Amino acid sequence: MLRYTLDKLNNLGYTKVCSKKVDPKFELGAVLKYFDNEVPIIFKNVKGYDMQLVGGLYGNRQIFYDLMNTNKENRIFKFMDAIANPQETKLIYTGPIKENIITKNIDITKLLPTPTSHEKDSSSFITAGMLLVKDPETGDTHMAVRRFQVNSKTNISTLISGASPHLREIVRKSEESNKPVECAVVLGYDAEYLIASQISSSKYGLDKHKVYSALKGEALEVVKCHSVDIEVPAYCEIVLEGEIVPNKKVIEGPFGELMGYYGEVAPNPVMEIKCIMHRDNPIFQHAFPCREEHLSNGLIREVEIFSALSSVVDIKDVNVTIGGGCRLHAIVSIDKKNEGDGKSAILSSLGSSKDLKHVVIVDSDVDIYSYKDVEFALASRVQASDDIVVIKNALGSALEASHVYKGFSDKIGIDATKPLNEESFKRAIIPEYEDIDITNYF
Ligand SMILES: Cc1cc2nc3c(=O)[nH]c(=O)nc-3n(C[C@H](O)[C@H](O)[C@H](O)COP(=O)(O)O)c2cc1C
Repeated sequence: MLRYTLDKLNNLGYTKVCSKKVDPKFELGAVLKYFDNEVPIIFKNVKGYDMQLVGGLYGNRQIFYDLMNTNKENRIFKFMDAIANPQETKLIYTGPIKENIITKNIDITKLLPTPTSHEKDSSSFITAGMLLVKDPETGDTHMAVRRFQVNSKTNISTLISGASPHLREIVRKSEESNKPVECAVVLGYDAEYLIASQISSSKYGLDKHKVYSALKGEALEVVKCHSVDIEVPAYCEIVLEGEIVPNKKVIEGPFGELMGYYGEVAPNPVMEIKCIMHRDNPIFQHAFPCREEHLSNGLIREVEIFSALSSVVDIKDVNVTIGGGCRLHAIVSIDKKNEGDGKSAILSSLGSSKDLKHVVIVDSDVDIYSYKDVEFALASRVQASDDIVVIKNALGSALEASHVYKGFSDKIGIDATKPLNEESFKRAIIPEYEDIDITNYF
């Protein structure tokens, strides 16, 4: 999983290694942020800890595509195929994750080099941890990235957002019956694991381990945890085992969130850690809290917008942008067949997710990954009175500051497509030389 990923990243020339002693409080995050959280960095010498740390792994589209053996053109279909055709996992007796099992004198504050990222953060936070819970009704593995505030040697609290009603319901029922929820936090995984984790349970109701197997094209090898009835990847780096304690909450936050503001401070469920498994020389995985680290979430939202629009218009591609927190903004390209296609695309996009706030529809001759090209379409194909649709006072994202401030959110759709068959919109070209091979000239 992570080790294979690091080898691959290294071979592709993407990684940087930092051997200087770095303080996990603020300094480490500043280094990651300098590179916009898009460069994978291995920190060999984290002040106060023996464990090395890797950050900035999954914040760049091209790195994602290279790691998952896909590309811009095929990725949506690859993800759709895995969601539609999940594959079984393979339970094996033991694996590298069981090389070290700690059940006594647990102290995560000494063992794990957990960073503190922002000035007002309430504590250090495990930000890349994958929370695994077995669904008591289906037996499926429910997994998703959650942040965990470090409260003490053995205690962390987790944020389960309103976007995860399924897990909230599991926790609610445990509180009703006063029975703890067994759980595990997995660190040290690959890009496919992260992508699989971002599939919405309430939408698909899938065992995401099985989606992982489908994405990889081979069964995920899992082992039983040491102290709880949960299966975890045999080749991950670190597993924290324990239980979510019923009817016990701890104030969580402030925490510098993905849009760069501090989110809500509220009482949240706590997990009591009973056991830690880790590989020899484990690598701690960190995600600096920021927009780039939510790219995996945006990649799955693109699948959802694409499938919502594909029965309405001839959609070509969609970019849920990093600038919009990988959830608030989308740029969609279509092959327009009817004059109304641009508006239909706006309706379906905004209807596909409450989080989407602004959407721009362009023709397929516009590169939706180039701000210059999108701006060209906005500048030359839009007349505000005809092409801008405003929907007032809709539900928005709890992670969007102006929505939180107002309690609701306005939505905007911009139809930046050109009129059909209109000669004045023909783009000037250089005949025969549009795709010039420049290597012939120098
Ligand atoms: C880096 C990162 C951090 C995240 N942190 C949280 C979090 O703290 N709490 C949360 O509920 N969701 C968080 N998410 C979003 C969930 O992982 C995501 O919505 C997931 O699809 C939820 O799965 P579910 O529908 O099975 O609950 C995070 C996502 C990423 C990529």
